[in-house]
Formats: sequence, C-alpha cells, structure tokens
Amino acid sequence: MAEQQRIVIGGGKRLEGEIPIQGAKNSALPLLAATVLCSGESVLHNCPHLSDCDSACRILECLGCRCKREQNTVTVDSSVISCTDIPASLMREMRSSIIFLGSVLTRCGRCRMSFPGGCELGPRPIDFHLAALREMGAVIDERHGYLECTAPKGLNGARITLSFSSVGATENIMLAASLAEGTTEIHNAAREPEIVDLAEYINKCGGKISGAGESTIVIEGVKRLSSCEHRIMSDRIAAATYLCCGAITGGELILTGADHSGLRPVIAVLERMGCSIYTYGKSNVFINVRRPLTSPGTVRTNVHPGFPTDAQPPLMALTAVAGGTTVFVENIFENRFKHASELVRLGAHISVEGKVAVVIGVRSLSGAELVATDLRGGAALVTAGLAAEGTTKIAGLSHIDRGYENIEGVLRSVGADITRK
Ligand code: UD1
Repeated sequence: MAEQQRIVIGGGKRLEGEIPIQGAKNSALPLLAATVLCSGESVLHNCPHLSDCDSACRILECLGCRCKREQNTVTVDSSVISCTDIPASLMREMRSSIIFLGSVLTRCGRCRMSFPGGCELGPRPIDFHLAALREMGAVIDERHGYLECTAPKGLNGARITLSFSSVGATENIMLAASLAEGTTEIHNAAREPEIVDLAEYINKCGGKISGAGESTIVIEGVKRLSSCEHRIMSDRIAAATYLCCGAITGGELILTGADHSGLRPVIAVLERMGCSIYTYGKSNVFINVRRPLTSPGTVRTNVHPGFPTDAQPPLMALTAVAGGTTVFVENIFENRFKHASELVRLGAHISVEGKVAVVIGVRSLSGAELVATDLRGGAALVTAGLAAEGTTKIAGLSHIDRGYENIEGVLRSVGADITRK
C-alpha cells in the first residue's frame, strides 16, 4: 500500500506547537530480540507503530512466541520457543533481523537464518557479529545464503575486542552473553544510548551487565532470565528530524518525551547554525528559529557521542537553505548520500564525492516530485519539502514508515500542509 502512496507537502508553512517523541526504533528492535532470552511474558511500553517493529514481531511469532500489541504496548510471551529457523522472507523484511541470532542461539543452542544481505546504505557486513559468536564457541556454517549456527553445549564467555564500535554487533554479543556460561568482556563496544536501554532491560530481567554506555562492557552469564516491564527510550533520531523540520520553517516547537542527553551532538550543530534551543525538565526540548540560519561548517558523522549518521540526511536538507557552505563527511556508511540527488531536484546545490558532500546554501527550494530510497534519506526529503515553494510529492513511503510513526500526522498537528495520498 505504502508503495503506491505519496506524501504531498505544500511548502512554506511555519511549524509551531508540541510534538511528543515516539519510542526509539533502534531500541525497540534489540529489545524485542531480547525477549527471546526471557522465560515469561515481557511487556514493552512506548513501542512505536513501525513496519520494522511489526517485522520483528513476525519473527518472534515464527519462533513460537506470542506477541500482542495494544496501542504502544507490546507483550511478548516467550515461554516456549518452538522453532529456531527464520525464513528468508522474514529476514529480508528488515536488515537488522541479524539481531535475533545472538538471543536465539544462546537460548536454544541453534539458529538457522538467511543472510541479511546488503542494504540501501551499501553492503551491510555481519562479520563482527559472526566472529564474536565464534569466539563464544558457536559453530557457524555459511552456505547457500544461509547461516547454520549451533552451540550444542551452549555459548561460553569470551574476551571480545571489536575493531569498530558496531552498534548491532555490541547488542548481539550482549544478548548472546547474557545466557552464556561465564563472563564476556566487550572492548571497544558501541556507546550509543540504545545500548544502555538494552542493558537496563536485561538487568531488570535478572541479567548482569555492567559498563553499558562505556567502551568496555562486562556481561556475566546467568542460567535463566525472567521477564519484566520496560519503557522503551525515546527516539533521538526522530527528535533530531523534527528539530530540523522546525528549523527549516523558521518555527517554534516543543518536543516532549525527548531524552535530551542523547540529542546533544545534534543540538550543538543546530545551535552553531543559529537555532535557539533550550532543554528543560527531564525530557523537553524547545527550539525557536527567528533569524536566517548559517552553515555549521564541517559535520563529521561518527559513533556516539559523535554526530549520528542517521541525523545526517535531515540536517543536510536544513543546510541546503542555510547561508554558506557546509561539508559533510560520512564516516559510518559507504553509500549514505542518496538523498542528495533528490534534494538537487528541489534546487539544492550539493556535490558528492565518495564520503564527502559539499552543500552550498541557496535562498529557496522549489517543490518537485521525489522518491525516498532509504529511511533517513526519506526524512530529509520531507524536511526539505516543508520549506520548498509550491508542492513536493514524495514516493517510496515504505522506507519512511520503517522509522517514523505517522510522520504526516505529526507534522500536520504542528501546522504543516502535508497529506498522504
Ligand atoms: C545501527 C542502527 C542504524 C545506525 C547505525 C550506526 C539499528 C537497528 N540500526 O545499525 O540506524 O545508522 O547503527 O549508528 O540500531 N560493520 C561491519 N561489520 C559488521 C557490522 C558492521 O563492517 O559485522 C560496519 C557497517 O557496515 C557500518 C559500520 O560498521 O559501516 C557501522 O555499523 P553498525 O554500528 O553495526 O550499524 P548497525 O548496528 O547495523
């Protein structure tokens, strides 16, 4: 359905009002995978309505878990895991489905899944995940596009050093190590806030993880994890996107339920551009833009606490209409500038060479017909469309729906002229 539909935006409306920030997709997915570790009924609150979360629930159901969604609460009963084989059709729905490998393998001693393959952002290797699980004693056979993994006597704790602080690999190791025999150390671990959320959930269920959020994480394996009730952290990338949307329209927004500690790298760049941003209370962020914005200079994406790669596309849309030249250096993914050629259709001046994009700010953009080819790139097109003169139509909505809960409804509620047709 989303394939035929388009988002239609009448640009130029100033955004004003309050946006409650959705639960984090990148936390919901590993948490849903973590429910496999638990021998009971887990309750996850603040779980966003996203196609990626639906895909994760379908994988859980295929494994034999019972999943129930009531509004934004998902209940997973994983008392019985009756299947350890995840078919290719489900693996293909969501590239990050590899996150289920660690939990299924450690709970059941075996797991068969198809290779997740490449994705819109370039090749998506899983070598760190596989090497770490092998260090923990897994036997992994890669054949005919499938991963056949066994650990008949269970996994063992290991000392693992990641050559790059991969978020997914860190999560997969944490999941696998939680029910392994002995202690696992992850060195050069990812430090993203979502890692901390995962550790909190596992610890509430009786796990023993320390150091999450730092570069060394220690996981003491336990025999059994019970289950718990947990509220998924807020989505810092959705929050960053809506800050860019507010800024590009010269608007005034309050984001509620937005954990601002995880947003610091983005807020710093927006302030450099001339946005006034105030954080108050535990989770409110106020943005007000009263003057023309200027380039923030060079923006280098990096692992947390660096500037998040997922916020690069919407920020690029904003810099397209900011005074001066902005240079983006994309250090995380190989192919993450696909939105640039679509922004050019709106009149943006952007040139891309390898991992560097140079954006020369223009006075205005003019509406055009665009196609979203990946999730955050799609968000960049929506951001730009809000400021473009005339009508912008965006196709490829299945990408956007993977990560933004009702994006058009949210933006309409703060004054945007935006519909889905
Ligand atoms: C997660 C996020 C994604 C975000 C990314 C970086 C989820 C569901 N997704 O993705 O939104 O953009 O972190 O913050 O949380 N790599 C390898 N081998 C591996 C694993 C990764 O070479 O085995 C490379 C990747 O190709 C990429 C880099 O490491 O170039 C970072 O990837 P990683 O941190 O693993 O990202 P994901 O966990 O896939």
